[in-house]
Amino acid sequence: MSNTFVIKGLGGERKLHGIVRVTGAKNAALKAIASTVLFRDTVTLTNIPEISDTLRMFDLLKDMGAEVIKTRKGAYTVSIEKGFAPELTPGIAKRMRASVVVTGPVLARYGKVSFPHPGGCVIGARPLDLFVSGFEKMGAKVSIKDDSYVVTAKGGLKGAEIFLKNQSVTVTETFMMAGVLAKGTTVIKNSAMEPEIADLAEFLNKCGAKISGAGTPTITIKGGKFLSGKGHPYKTMPDRIEAGSFLVLGALSARELHITNCNPEHLESPIDILRSAGVGIEIKKNEIIVRAPSVLRPVDIKTHEYPGFPTDLQAPMTVLLTQADGESTVFETIFEGRLNYTESLSAMGANITMMDPHRALVRGKTELKGRKLTSPDLRAGLAFVISAIVAKGESVIHNVDTTIDRGYEDVETRLRAIGVDIERAKMVPEETPESAV
Ligand code: EPU
Repeated sequence: MSNTFVIKGLGGERKLHGIVRVTGAKNAALKAIASTVLFRDTVTLTNIPEISDTLRMFDLLKDMGAEVIKTRKGAYTVSIEKGFAPELTPGIAKRMRASVVVTGPVLARYGKVSFPHPGGCVIGARPLDLFVSGFEKMGAKVSIKDDSYVVTAKGGLKGAEIFLKNQSVTVTETFMMAGVLAKGTTVIKNSAMEPEIADLAEFLNKCGAKISGAGTPTITIKGGKFLSGKGHPYKTMPDRIEAGSFLVLGALSARELHITNCNPEHLESPIDILRSAGVGIEIKKNEIIVRAPSVLRPVDIKTHEYPGFPTDLQAPMTVLLTQADGESTVFETIFEGRLNYTESLSAMGANITMMDPHRALVRGKTELKGRKLTSPDLRAGLAFVISAIVAKGESVIHNVDTTIDRGYEDVETRLRAIGVDIERAKMVPEETPESAV
């Protein structure tokens, strides 16, 4: 049995209305949880989204020996206890790509760490070469034993200059955290510039770290001192991907949708693209108001590292393009497996031609019809929810627990409040691809 969403579509009508509140960002919260290993005392984390990925990250730390206490919804304290073992539990780490960011702080604190090749959404090759070469530059030795990476740094990590051949988010965060406890200065060049990285640096700096340049292509970390969480609770920044997904939903189906508790500054590229498609968007300080236009214009999208158009919003935006009048192109530059879901959109009635694994041509406007769907990954999962809302008739989306629940907190309650006919049910899935976890 898998958790399933049953959605009765609007058949293209624009009648959603109301307020939808954005939760804390998954990809910020996961790194803040990992950063607790850099602290000599208890850290308080707030506005943590209650999703399966954050719970799994807490489980990983607990399994290694941390004390994690939930104080109320979204609020936790974490203390690293004496017997903390520098080994990432394979059973948990293999199920979540983000687990790899724990390796930086653990190696920096204990001089060793072992971890399996991490799992996560199957959206491309997702190699670990930049982690391995970065550890080596900081003076560690990396070997592979029984399917696990074993990294040791006798005498501790040393500050180093690390150039990233690809602007990777988790690699940047891993070495930014490792640099905090390494001896000397670490410089990360061609670092990723996603807002979650600056958010993490800001929190660590409040707690005693010396990080400059986070949010730019060069980050400098002066290391060597444990951090203290006393008096500095962490508050997770708003999830820009969730906000962007609600924006797309509003652009397709809302009379008027207020997206609250978000940071519009983090959504410049999606807002710009939606406006060129003819969508009416009003921006306030922490709120975006969106109204679906009667006609959507085609646009070409190309994913890019921040501040470009985020790959995590590519699937929802493609759903929108199926409703635009004319030909649009989608160019996914970051992950080669991130257009696989288009096959299901075509089965719903979309006219999408794959030019190559990175490029799709979308011809609109096409009427979408409700279908049985199994999401290949978390972000495509929410895109299916959006396509099911737009479609005519009923859709059934399988494997919600291994995809959508990983990243969106109680999304059905929030969608119901703005007029979506969505129910959660337990059903035997059509197919349960192992790759979905
Ligand atoms: N890369 C390498 N070598 C490495 C690591 C990465 O070449 O050792 C390459 C990848 O192959 C890819 C590029 O770097 O071409 C970017 O990948 P990146 O490492 O930035 O991806 P990530 O850090 O694993 C994070 C988010 C993803 C998001 C991407 C891009 C987290 C936990 N994950 O992944 O989020 O799509 O950045 O913005 O922060 C999601 O939330 O659904 C998700 C997949």
